Amino acid sequence: MFGRLNSVQISRIRNFSALVQSKALVNGNWIDSSNNDTFDVTNPVNGKKIGSVPNMTVQDAQNAINAAKQAYESKEWRSLTAKDRSNLLKKWHKLIEQHSQQIAEIMTAESGKPINESKGEVLYGNSFVEWFAEEARRIYGEIVPSPVANREIIVMKQPIGVAALITPWNFPLAMITRKAGAALAAGCTVVIKPAEDTPLTALAVAKLAEDAGIPKGVINVVTTNKAAPIGDLFCKSPDVRGISFTGSTQVGKLLFRNAADGIKRVCLELGGNAPFIVFDSANVEKAVDGAMSSKFRNCGQTCVSANRFFVQAGIYDKFVALLKQRVEALKIGDGQSSDIQIGPLINKMQYDKVSGFVEDARSKKAQIVVGGTGLPELGALFYAPTVVTDVPPTAQLYTEEVFGPVVSIIKFKDEAEALQKANDTNRGLAGYFFSENLQQVFRVAKRLEVGMVGVNEGLISAAEAPFGGVKESGVGREGSHHGIDDYVDIKYICMGNLKYD
Ligand SMILES: NC(=O)c1ccc[n+]([C@@H]2O[C@H](COP(=O)([O-])OP(=O)(O)OC[C@H]3O[C@@H](n4cnc5c(N)ncnc54)[C@H](O)[C@@H]3O)[C@@H](O)[C@H]2O)c1
Repeated sequence: MFGRLNSVQISRIRNFSALVQSKALVNGNWIDSSNNDTFDVTNPVNGKKIGSVPNMTVQDAQNAINAAKQAYESKEWRSLTAKDRSNLLKKWHKLIEQHSQQIAEIMTAESGKPINESKGEVLYGNSFVEWFAEEARRIYGEIVPSPVANREIIVMKQPIGVAALITPWNFPLAMITRKAGAALAAGCTVVIKPAEDTPLTALAVAKLAEDAGIPKGVINVVTTNKAAPIGDLFCKSPDVRGISFTGSTQVGKLLFRNAADGIKRVCLELGGNAPFIVFDSANVEKAVDGAMSSKFRNCGQTCVSANRFFVQAGIYDKFVALLKQRVEALKIGDGQSSDIQIGPLINKMQYDKVSGFVEDARSKKAQIVVGGTGLPELGALFYAPTVVTDVPPTAQLYTEEVFGPVVSIIKFKDEAEALQKANDTNRGLAGYFFSENLQQVFRVAKRLEVGMVGVNEGLISAAEAPFGGVKESGVGREGSHHGIDDYVDIKYICMGNLKYD
């Protein structure tokens, strides 16, 4: 297999259009859907069509599962050592790196994400391929001292088999590599179902995986705008041993329930409702910097985006004034220009949700400090970066994840009140707080009911760190060495009746 790769092939750079695919990938073949149905991919900046992809059927998805199973059992994949898999992932990493500009352009075109952020996502997403290329060689077992003479207890980790990966539109590349990198490192094969809004980035990186020499059937990509029956198939098929999903809590719960019948491994990265607490002791400039990066990245459409800002009374006015200035200075528009910081929302559903939440808060006597309107002169999906204060606990901005460029601020008196309010939610993905008081830092970090805490920091994700939530924000961890766990089974082998003398 490695024979067909040489340095010339590996360094061959595909141009932009060669990376934009209009077919799905099953068993190493780039194919249409079996009924020839397609759906369009549009640019959220202006609604213009930028491509179309196959609208795959349940039968097509079944074929992809079959291909993944066959590949999992094939000599081409099974006989590879951990180092071989590591080398393949390294080649994939190199190709993604070489095509980072083209991938970023595709991502910006289909998601509206500003180009600098798309380049950042390629770097971030590719860091998981690199990380798991390294981790592939460190999936260690154990030899445990036996309580019985002439016996050995051996523990090994084995791949679970076929994993189905369902990914969202807000990180079209990173959510794929964070899952597929770990799965392939462990020796699994995968069927990827990318979000219907952003299938082109998924297909582009799958093309590069093929170029890297990853054997046919190991990575399959099923594009569809009818996710539910295919999700159902993933849950029901006995050949799918694990499901990893990033997206809404509502869909996550459905998959969790449906996967119970087959007792499948399930990893869920769901929505958050992140608190962002600014204590009186905080460095206010640092806190505003953190707020800007945590809230406005990807137009507020990230699951770790700060959702409710709790600001202590003594620092409140200063924080709100500084934040207002920074929000007013944001450059909004078509993310293809490198100076743009805020693009459009992904689709009409998201736009209606964001504007509906702001109207709900307004009707409940919250104050709009800046923004609070759509920007139709820029396009139908643009919404002004917004700061809302005096948000009551009954407002949707408080109780739900807005997933848009809206800062909701609530004043508090003391630490106990901040913690009570921060934890007053059934979500628990990320939480942030700003404090220069060391005692407070440890107290609050321990008491926040979340899976990830940013202390004096608004951007916390890294391939090296475990990403995941508590409560209804999910189960399992991605990234870090823990990211492998969902893709391996632990097997105990009892070696008995050994003769040592
Ligand atoms: N945690 C995250 O990173 C994240 C990402 C995207 C969206 N969200 C949240 O979800 C909300 C809605 O966004 P969305 O509609 O894109 O999320 P979603 O959960 O509907 O979609 C995420 C992925 O799941 C697929 N999907 C949808 N229904 C499915 C089903 N029944 N079975 C299997 N797969 C299914 C989609 O096609 C997509 O690939 C957002 O407002 C946000 O709060 C969270």
